[in-house]
Amino acid sequence: MARHLITSALPYINGIKHLGNMVGSMLPADVYSRYLRQRGHDVLYICATDEHGTPAELAAKEQGLAVDEFCAQAHDAQKAVYDGFALAFDYFGRSSSPENRDITQHFARKLNENGFIEERAIRQVYSPADGRFLPDRYVEGTCPHCGYDKARGDQCENCTRVLDPTDLIDPRSAISGSTDLEVRETKHLFLLQSKLQHEVEAWVARHEDDWPQLASSIARKWLNEGLHDRAITRDLDWGVPVPADTWPELAAEGKVFYVWFDAPIEYIGATKEWADQDPENRDWKAWWYDADETVRYTEFMAKDNVPFHTVMFPATELGVREPWKKVDYVKAFNWLTYYGGKFSTSQKRGVFTDQALEILPADYWRYFLIANAPESDDSSFTWEHFTATVNKDLADTLGNFVNRVLSFSKKRFGEEVPAGGEPGAAEARLGEEIARLLAEYEEHMEALQFRKAAAALRALWSAGNSYLEEKAPWLEIKTDKDGAALTLRTAMNLIHLYAVVSEPFIPATAKVMREAFALADDTAVWVTAEEAKALVFVPSGTPFTVPPVLFAKLTDEDLAAYKERFGGEEG
Ligand code: MF3
Ligand code: ZN
Repeated sequence: MARHLITSALPYINGIKHLGNMVGSMLPADVYSRYLRQRGHDVLYICATDEHGTPAELAAKEQGLAVDEFCAQAHDAQKAVYDGFALAFDYFGRSSSPENRDITQHFARKLNENGFIEERAIRQVYSPADGRFLPDRYVEGTCPHCGYDKARGDQCENCTRVLDPTDLIDPRSAISGSTDLEVRETKHLFLLQSKLQHEVEAWVARHEDDWPQLASSIARKWLNEGLHDRAITRDLDWGVPVPADTWPELAAEGKVFYVWFDAPIEYIGATKEWADQDPENRDWKAWWYDADETVRYTEFMAKDNVPFHTVMFPATELGVREPWKKVDYVKAFNWLTYYGGKFSTSQKRGVFTDQALEILPADYWRYFLIANAPESDDSSFTWEHFTATVNKDLADTLGNFVNRVLSFSKKRFGEEVPAGGEPGAAEARLGEEIARLLAEYEEHMEALQFRKAAAALRALWSAGNSYLEEKAPWLEIKTDKDGAALTLRTAMNLIHLYAVVSEPFIPATAKVMREAFALADDTAVWVTAEEAKALVFVPSGTPFTVPPVLFAKLTDEDLAAYKERFGGEEG
């Protein structure tokens, strides 16, 4: 069995994420991890909050909190939502941890020893009124490209162009509003990515054929434009300090690493955090120092993160000249839109993950989001589509099947799986169909094709309904009691199979379904297509209970209420 290292892009600390963030990184990573664990693989799924940088400092200031306190609270708030979504991280860390500080500083020292870091004097915006330099978002002003007057120093939100604070027209401090700004010279560390261009190119060339098109085309585009040397330090209070043993002067000036330098290193940092909180995990480094290539490393992210993961972080790892694991497979996602428009954290447009859980349990969202994941293109969230999908797939096709079979059997045969009848042609056909669909489902999961996997899972559920309609045990029972028992027993075996194979998508419901049967030592371990075919895993005589309705049907009133609360049109 293989070892799988899995990471999803680290959610930024400032604020609860929306459904678009969830479906573009953490949720599919969780579905994939759960699937691999069920199939007996050794899986380590790591994520963390990305805590440094100016947005964290500014958000803390807005709330009147010290930045470390703000981050501690915001981390716990995000973690609570992810627990609510049943994301089964092996560890959910914090990029502000001592572990990440140590590894980030180690990386910087090594890059320096290997000639990939240089100190350069650059011109930066300085605010005498604030007594400090103003990096990135600390400066606001008018965009030189489009004239938008609230452009931030790092990027114009209106035309999306990347900016430098010194580009802005009529700049002002985002802290004090002061327009009395000067440009002063100060020293910063630069990562000489241009020197690593060829190595990164060779590395990407070895992988891009395996990666999905979305990831390899973005990597190519960046490489074709050429890797530029870039500043990896900032004048901020909050961040990983530049190590004083190597750069005493910069350290004395209080420089810290830029957030995009230490954030991906936190994938490693969080693995060390995982090890440090439990002595059983001591071999953490084996996941990352993988000379024998026994680990397969898969990363999940939205497309805006692809350049950092396919080009810049690999450049850093290559320049360190130590055998740190580099990504094997990059699963990238397009955008989930809200009625065709942008989900936006800053403009509070769309559905946020905490609100989603206030409305309905996680399984409703997990299934809908994965079944409509923006894989080959952007996809649009609408309440109409959401309620229709829940009603059709979850309430009718799956939920109703389970309840109908179990209640009818209980009513006619009591609280044990009924005995009688011998499987015939209908059962053989069903077995073939189930085996075929299960193989298809597995194939799509192995290929990380989540929409297709969801479609195969839905087809498995439908096959049960077709079988039930064909056999019609509610009629059969009038003339052939053994035949009806066989039909119901077979259908109950389908329920147990659904419980096992639906687990990655709807873990809470899957557990309820599995636990309906009092089987000794029952686990969610995977069932192969060959094993599934016979449909005799749950024998006659097994006690069972009828669970409460698995998925509530959403009404027109529900739909109207959701649209009323969140807005239904393009805003
Ligand atoms: N916080 C970043 C974002 O939200 C993602 C960081 S991914 C990491 O876009 F690799 F840098 F950690
Ligand atoms: Zn602009």
